[in-house]
Amino acid sequence: MADSKLRIGLVGAGTIMRVAHAPTLHASVDAELAAVFDVELKRANAISKSFGGRAYDNLEQMLAAADLDAVIVATPNCFHEKNVIAAAEHGLHVLCEKPLAIDVASAARMIKTCDDSGVVLQTGFNQRFWTQNRIAREIIDCGLIGEIHQMRSLYSEKSTAYPATTAFRYDLVKSGGATIIDLTVHRIDIARYLVGDIASVFAELEHSFLPEKVDDNVWLLTKFVNGARGCLTSNRISPNIGDGTDIFGTEGTIHIATESINPHNSAPLRVYTEKSKSQLPDILQQACYPDAWWKEFDGGWITVKPPRSNPYRLQLEEFCASIREGRPSHVSGVDGLRAQEVVQAGYLSHESGTWVDLPLPANAPFNIPTYS
Ligand SMILES: NC(=O)c1ccc[n+]([C@@H]2O[C@H](COP(=O)([O-])OP(=O)(O)OC[C@H]3O[C@@H](n4cnc5c(N)ncnc54)[C@H](O)[C@@H]3O)[C@@H](O)[C@H]2O)c1
Repeated sequence: MADSKLRIGLVGAGTIMRVAHAPTLHASVDAELAAVFDVELKRANAISKSFGGRAYDNLEQMLAAADLDAVIVATPNCFHEKNVIAAAEHGLHVLCEKPLAIDVASAARMIKTCDDSGVVLQTGFNQRFWTQNRIAREIIDCGLIGEIHQMRSLYSEKSTAYPATTAFRYDLVKSGGATIIDLTVHRIDIARYLVGDIASVFAELEHSFLPEKVDDNVWLLTKFVNGARGCLTSNRISPNIGDGTDIFGTEGTIHIATESINPHNSAPLRVYTEKSKSQLPDILQQACYPDAWWKEFDGGWITVKPPRSNPYRLQLEEFCASIREGRPSHVSGVDGLRAQEVVQAGYLSHESGTWVDLPLPANAPFNIPTYS
């Protein structure tokens, strides 16, 4: 296996497979697209024709016959558990799209089956592989911005922006949530990645404008284990795609954005520091310039423009590396479960109007709110 490409099968042949996973596999030097399954054969055929692999409309047949090393799962959320467990029971490693599952109990069963089968389970939080998020993490880890006391993150996308193949996102039984579980879940993971584990959640989930009676306006307040406070928001309403994260530390601030998505955010990464140039980590020393050539940099905002890289390629590289090295992925099933727990605690908080502490007890109820 070490020298040959990993043979990967796709479980699901909808939009994210067509626009991201299949082309990434097609271009990969680590892995190849060996098979594609979808309940609608025509969708599996379309991907197979463009990017390779044999098409199937029977998952068991693909898992048994295609001589695979691993699968990528991107089906409507309610099928993730069944799909991941089927693959793991065939001894196949799994990269499962976010959200890992609909609820914590289901995520825990998926992790246990993968552990018992000795296979890698990676959660598809591709935003962890955005270069600006990775650099931000390095800057935080080296202590440049001191102790984090506050963070906020916004991720919003109008309901008609993304060309999904099916409407599962707005059917709460299939999705487990329209906006919190689809959009905010990315920022729950980024909050954990950059700030740390979340200790307590308060949620306001609203249905405001969409014709479907689902959460389309989400506010999550978070208390982190390290004492920091956070606010994570998403909506499905405004026409622009909204994106921005601010991390406030005792000695500096980091602003992260996606300037290609929202030109108002003119740089992907900005760091405010009052340290001198010689005290900065290499990446900031290279990025910082004084206001005039006769002055030394003596604090202020430093703009970092990291080279663009495809997060799906980096995500696949991590998946292949964890398989080849026989270690857990850096974005594990447990990361998927922890994010799920925040979503589920959000539902409990919405229902009770109170803060909900984590970790949730094993028997915590899972009730998707209903909206009028
Ligand atoms: N990481 C990200 O940023 C990101 C982006 C988009 C989608 N996703 C995730 O990927 C998953 C799929 O999303 P999408 O946008 O591709 O959806 P989609 O509606 O475009 O496609 C869903 C596909 O699943 C197929 N399907 C339905 N039931 C199935 C079953 N039982 N078994 C196998 N296939 C079945 C459908 O025929 C369809 O082809 C979701 O979990 C979503 O959250 C993640």
